[in-house]
Amino acid sequence: MSDAITAEGLVKKYGDVTALDELSFRVPQGTVLALLGPNGAGKTTTVRVLTTLLRPDGGRATVAGYDVVSDARRLRAHIGLSGQYAAVDEHLTGAENLEMVGRLYHLGAKRSRSRARELLERFDLADAADRPVKGYSGGMRRRIDLAGALVADPPVLFLDEPTTGLDPRARAALWDTLSELVAAGSTLLLTTQYMEEADHLANQIMVVDHGRAIARGTADELKDQVGGNRIELTVTDATELETARQSLAWVAVGAMRTAPESLQITVPVTDGPEALREVLGRLAEAGVRVRDAGLRRPTLDDVYLTLTGHQASGTDERAREATR
Ligand SMILES: Nc1ncnc2c1ncn2[C@@H]1O[C@H](COP(=O)(O)OP(=O)(O)OP(=O)(O)O)[C@@H](O)[C@H]1O
Ligand SMILES: [Mg+2]
Repeated sequence: MSDAITAEGLVKKYGDVTALDELSFRVPQGTVLALLGPNGAGKTTTVRVLTTLLRPDGGRATVAGYDVVSDARRLRAHIGLSGQYAAVDEHLTGAENLEMVGRLYHLGAKRSRSRARELLERFDLADAADRPVKGYSGGMRRRIDLAGALVADPPVLFLDEPTTGLDPRARAALWDTLSELVAAGSTLLLTTQYMEEADHLANQIMVVDHGRAIARGTADELKDQVGGNRIELTVTDATELETARQSLAWVAVGAMRTAPESLQITVPVTDGPEALREVLGRLAEAGVRVRDAGLRRPTLDDVYLTLTGHQASGTDERAREATR
């Protein structure tokens, strides 16, 4: 299988900020790479370098076989891009925006029009097709921008946080669309703050921080790498959270995570069943009323937290709803 995207030692600096610090990776054709990382990690910079919007200060990269610097013009004909912030013409209607993209890709007037209608339908925008985009909601703008990235059926797609701001239904619909495109041979590089999205779509995940890859692999490989079990405990009352934390501290082998709104605490442990027994004993002694307690394997959230020290900033609840 050939590589649709290659990056070797990419460097990008903004003054004294090193946004990309010798980043290397490859994305085989027909697969999905998800870039995960906290704010400022270098995800958007990576996308901008690979889509020729930014020139790297070092290293080299190719997309669809074209060099991002020396072959930038030809490269652009083979990619679709939806940036972190929607780039649409406010004064044009949804349909006109998509037709314009078609014309830029030399699809011809007729084909551009039919392609626009097809995508408006697919992105649930048919009813708004003839309204100027300036009257669109945030989620509608996002969708028209995503549709724009697909107009020319490009073999390589770059989507920077594609589902941020989408409601669960729109998110699920986009996931389906992307899965179909990849099944048909497209290559996708996406950035996301939603672990669920990476778990669902990506063949490979790369976690970046400070412009460097700090982990990479399939979702399962990353979960195995973090290893161990988690105790997940829910108490009945917020006033009991602190006592519960003290009991859990006895068995914790890593950072404890508390979600006060759901009265839930999660902690990594080594000997799962034994640790759970011990904790339940201590909680009973302390008079803490436990609503729910159990052992589970690490999730991608745990991987991310362990690797970066940051909790994923996306509300995964919304992503979860989208898959129900
Ligand atoms: N135009 C710019 N001028 C100066 N610094 C910049 C510029 N663009 C990005 N940076 C810096 O480069 C680093 C990487 O930024 P980048 O936008 O690639 O991060 P990101 O991973 O996309 O973050 P986010 O999750 O917030 O979108 C950050 O430290 C950022 O402040
Ligand atoms: Mg970004």
